[in-house]
Amino acid sequence: MTINFLVEAIKKQDWLEPIAEWLQPTIAAALGTDGAVGPKVANILHGTWLGHPFHVVLTDVPIGCWTAAAILDALEAKTGSRAMGRGADAVITAGLVGAAGTAITGLADWSKIGGGEPRRIGLTHALLNATATACYVASLCLRRSHSRRAGRQLALLGLIVSGVAAYLGGHLVYEKKLGVDHTADHSPPEDFVPVLPEAKLLENQLRRVDANGMPVLLVRRGQRIYAIAETCSHLGGPLSEGKLEDTSVRCPWHGSCFSLEDGRVIEGPSVHAQPILKVRIRDGQIEVRKSDR
Ligand code: FES
Repeated sequence: MTINFLVEAIKKQDWLEPIAEWLQPTIAAALGTDGAVGPKVANILHGTWLGHPFHVVLTDVPIGCWTAAAILDALEAKTGSRAMGRGADAVITAGLVGAAGTAITGLADWSKIGGGEPRRIGLTHALLNATATACYVASLCLRRSHSRRAGRQLALLGLIVSGVAAYLGGHLVYEKKLGVDHTADHSPPEDFVPVLPEAKLLENQLRRVDANGMPVLLVRRGQRIYAIAETCSHLGGPLSEGKLEDTSVRCPWHGSCFSLEDGRVIEGPSVHAQPILKVRIRDGQIEVRKSDR
């Protein structure tokens, strides 16, 4: 049995959309990701510096700590060991610290996704995790007021709620492909293939071409022609409909900015570099192939 019914139910909750519409810019403003230093803050929170979604890394902290707490709680309940109880209290506290970082990075990611199912599921995921965190805060308070049994019960409830939230997080990654490199299945041609007559590529034009089935973006800047995967690694946006900014291109969907020189992410939310291709001119044709790097 799965809890897919929960996903189906969330999909139908239209009332979540206006809440999300208001929350996304509010969160971006609160986190400072839209301000003057916004791109730097956003790159840290998204994990651009890491080449991997930072949120996904941090989720292991509260999940691991709270799972350990459940085991220590069970041992305390069975043996009456105060040492086990103190251990449980300590890992719950560590889990709460980890949950703060997990929440901030998750909200930064969520503030950059478009409307519809992923956004609704992401919002529900966040609300469930907030509920789980509240359970653990209340559990710690009960433990300190010597109501350890009630504290353990509340912690168990928190673990169940965070488990459901984790299921929704997994759905976003494995079903909706959030945080996944959307260029990972691209196969640039091993040998040079012609993609466009050179005369047809205008200066500073974002031109989409096809290289053996792979969408490629061509850009001419003076004597240089750049070739880079046309599908944005973040969520698959069309870079050919984006904006050229000097020697970088900005995605029209959520604003990720990539260097045309080497494909690296200059600004997130994407955390994955764009594949670049090697370019040459032969017989008046622009030809591309897989980069040596
Ligand atoms: S698809 Fe999101 S930034 Fe390109």
